[in-house]
Amino acid sequence: MTMSDLMDKIKKQLDQAGIKHEFTKLPDDISMEVEAHMKFHGRALKFAMTNMVLKTEKGLVVIQKRGDTQIDNKKLKALLNIKRLSLASEDDLKKFGLAPGIVPPLGYDIPIYMDKRVLEQEEVYTGTGDRLFTLKLSPDDLIKLNKATIGDFTKLEDTQSTGRVLSGIRATGKLHLGNYLGAVKGFLELQNDPNYQTFYMVVDLHTVTTPYDEKALKESVRNIIIDYLACGLDPDKSTLFIQSMVPEHIELAYLFSTVMTVARMQHLPTFKEKAKQYPENVSMALLNYPVLMAADILVYKAGLVPVGIDQEPHLEIAREIARKMNDQYNLNLPEPERFATAGEYIPSLTGEGKMSKSIEGSYINITDDLETIRKKIRSVPTSSEVGGEKQGGVAVLFSLLEAFTKNSPEEYKKFDELYNNKSLKYVELKDFLAEAIYEELKPIQERIKILEKDTEYVDQVIKEGAQKARQVASETLTEIKKAMGIDYDYN
Ligand code: TRP
Repeated sequence: MTMSDLMDKIKKQLDQAGIKHEFTKLPDDISMEVEAHMKFHGRALKFAMTNMVLKTEKGLVVIQKRGDTQIDNKKLKALLNIKRLSLASEDDLKKFGLAPGIVPPLGYDIPIYMDKRVLEQEEVYTGTGDRLFTLKLSPDDLIKLNKATIGDFTKLEDTQSTGRVLSGIRATGKLHLGNYLGAVKGFLELQNDPNYQTFYMVVDLHTVTTPYDEKALKESVRNIIIDYLACGLDPDKSTLFIQSMVPEHIELAYLFSTVMTVARMQHLPTFKEKAKQYPENVSMALLNYPVLMAADILVYKAGLVPVGIDQEPHLEIAREIARKMNDQYNLNLPEPERFATAGEYIPSLTGEGKMSKSIEGSYINITDDLETIRKKIRSVPTSSEVGGEKQGGVAVLFSLLEAFTKNSPEEYKKFDELYNNKSLKYVELKDFLAEAIYEELKPIQERIKILEKDTEYVDQVIKEGAQKARQVASETLTEIKKAMGIDYDYN
């Protein structure tokens, strides 16, 4: 038996500690993949323990997790109290005598974190430092020797879907600054992260749950697709589509409605608000709004949903539905989490509440020209007083200023100091802000103009988006119908 030095060293350590273990030689031509090793052992992936070296801003860490789980980045970052996480480079590993893919479970001087799910197994197969050997031992024993910290930082989900992201915006007119900062910027961030597969839609079916103008709907929907494209959503990276063009959403919403009670839906704050706002239109569709939203998300098995905090009650419904469906029909739907965008709460220009299309005078459209923006900003109410705690309209101005001086924070500081010295002239702040907003919107507006003329291209994006979305959606729908016993074979 030939062993690398590192493997020799850990064998000695295990022997000395009296820990029961077993090294197994793998066939010379076996691949590096854990799957291949477990196939050779004739055991399921959950009996594998992988050791990974990760790089954080505080240095390297080793994590030990079961082969059938995935790292939950959010939980792991919280556990380690860090912000950045990436795989260690080959050079990083060399310093510790390690190489990628063949990290042993002990024998080096890097802190180790073991996911608690590993401990559910009496014995696991793990690496040895030599790519042609595996080591079988009890994780309980191992932990005494490698002093790993136990944590909960993995998830057990279908590997294919954990990285899926879905979101949508209702088609009531043009996008406004609140949508742009609170939603679309988050869409872009996730689109450009290679760990995610992103689906973004325009939700026309939710738009019709409250009174709307049927003559204007088509155009509003198309305009939002154009706005998406102009803001940088890229049909080569994201699937961009119109909700009703993927009828699987509706069929799944019906199936989901079988596991939710009327009482649960009636008690949602979002439902109560809308019912109060439109007392003549408390329809079944309005009651079902969150069920359709759950179907929107789960038909793609999306685990992450970039939406504003006001949508949290709806995500809770989606998670409840996922749990109930999983329990009753033995499915594997993820429980979707909200992805919070930095600018997610953009206040209304009136100084009260959130920027919203349904409140006149509260918003700036992304297509507003400089004059319009200046007028709207100038009409933000500001008291005659300067200094002290920023409230109402003043707080609105400063939070917009913060959002639009991300690349020049010294500008924010300048106005903030003037305010604190009680020497700020509001009109100067307002005009500066109006220009900063326009600067950012100008290139988007230019792209909107071009896209509005390029009918063929926009048509093609919409058609292909629906096709791509349907492929994924129909797969999930078929799986769920089968689990529910609604699959017939009379063809
Ligand atoms: N309810 C969301 C809103 O008003 C819109 C929406 C519908 C949505 N379906 C969705 C958002 C699915 C995210 C995912 O903002």
